Amino acid sequence: MKQIGVGILGFGTVGAGVAEGLLRNRQVMAERLGVDVVLRRIADIDVTTDRGVAVDASMLTTDAMAVINDAGVHIVVELIGGTGIAKTLVLAALNAGKPVVTANKKLLAECGDEIFDVAEKNGVDVYFGASVGGGIPIIRVLREGLAGNEIQSIHGILNGTCNYILTRMEHEGLPFDAVLADAQRAGYAEANPGLDIDGFDTAHKASILASLAYGFHVPMDKVLVEGIRNLSGMDVKFAAEFGYRIKLLAVVKREGPEIEVRVHPTLVPLSHMLASVNHVFNAAMVHGDLSGDTLYYGRGAGREPTASTVIGDIGDVARNLAAGRSRYARGVSVANDGKFAMRAPSEVASKYYIRLMVLDKAGALGIMATILGKHGVSVLAATQKACEEEEEMPGYVPIVMLTHTAKGADMDAALRDILTAGVVNEPPVSLRMI
Ligand code: HSE
Repeated sequence: MKQIGVGILGFGTVGAGVAEGLLRNRQVMAERLGVDVVLRRIADIDVTTDRGVAVDASMLTTDAMAVINDAGVHIVVELIGGTGIAKTLVLAALNAGKPVVTANKKLLAECGDEIFDVAEKNGVDVYFGASVGGGIPIIRVLREGLAGNEIQSIHGILNGTCNYILTRMEHEGLPFDAVLADAQRAGYAEANPGLDIDGFDTAHKASILASLAYGFHVPMDKVLVEGIRNLSGMDVKFAAEFGYRIKLLAVVKREGPEIEVRVHPTLVPLSHMLASVNHVFNAAMVHGDLSGDTLYYGRGAGREPTASTVIGDIGDVARNLAAGRSRYARGVSVANDGKFAMRAPSEVASKYYIRLMVLDKAGALGIMATILGKHGVSVLAATQKACEEEEEMPGYVPIVMLTHTAKGADMDAALRDILTAGVVNEPPVSLRMI
């Protein structure tokens, strides 16, 4: 049986999981793939810490280039993360004619053009299955399983940290700050949680999924991003009273030649399957023109789930190399060939939940309704709510409205006018609905 050698760059949580999985399941993989995948080298700046996996000391080095240039290493696995040294090493591996497997969503979302360009020039593959959804092989679904479909939409819960926080806010009636602090203590959230809670981690993943669905690199600056940092427990509670659960959703949607890619807290009806995805779990619902709705669910992070997807990619590349195919999985084109246009966020239309702290006086509601009507925003339901004691504002009452579909620009203009009309005492809250 042909042997294919693997070199790992980065011996952290996922690197150790991949090393362990490759060693533990070598025989199973050989039986399935018809190729013997052999772990040959591992590079990390720290080769002394115990990673909980028994590897031969001769495998370890602090010199990443020695791994890339090792003649016995046929596949380079980048698990360092970020766009610094990881990018330099990925480019070095591709220029050395070696296929790369990576879990680095930031690198692909921010430098995808360059990476795919260099891979193309060198005729080698870049596999990035674990960059989105951890243990869920969603990238492979888009590349292969649904390759015969026009992808009409993807709705994803792609960040476990945010989903964990939102689940606890709703289930335990806790405010955002308290759950975040608790999640940090329990190790579910980073000490610097901005990438997760401000939506950028999800946006990186949405950009990758959109690029795969539509075949061109969707740059991050075309993605509308809103996080959950300012989400109030009051809105989580009111949404639940209306029969909705708030999720940080990645939405990728095509309408004719226009593509929307956005990330924001979203009201999802409790009857929707994504509303049942709780705690640290991730899920993606993909609608293809032939398949209809399909749903993928699993652990979006963690040592073993992420290693599972990385190893799946390694297996695919190994099988291709053994069969003499060096470039099997086409990357994403660098340029949009003009077939698609990105829809401007102001043009994106959704149904909305809006909450306003309204002056408790005759006529206030009428003024707001007139302003909404003037901007073409049609109200579907409106209710006056009761606040918890600590949220009360004397003289003002919370009014929640659900609207029919409205354009972002129209909603923003209406809320700006309401704010200056003297009937509310703080900026209105607006959240999109699925
Ligand atoms: N920080 C991510 C999350 C995991 O919380 O889901 C890595 O993509």
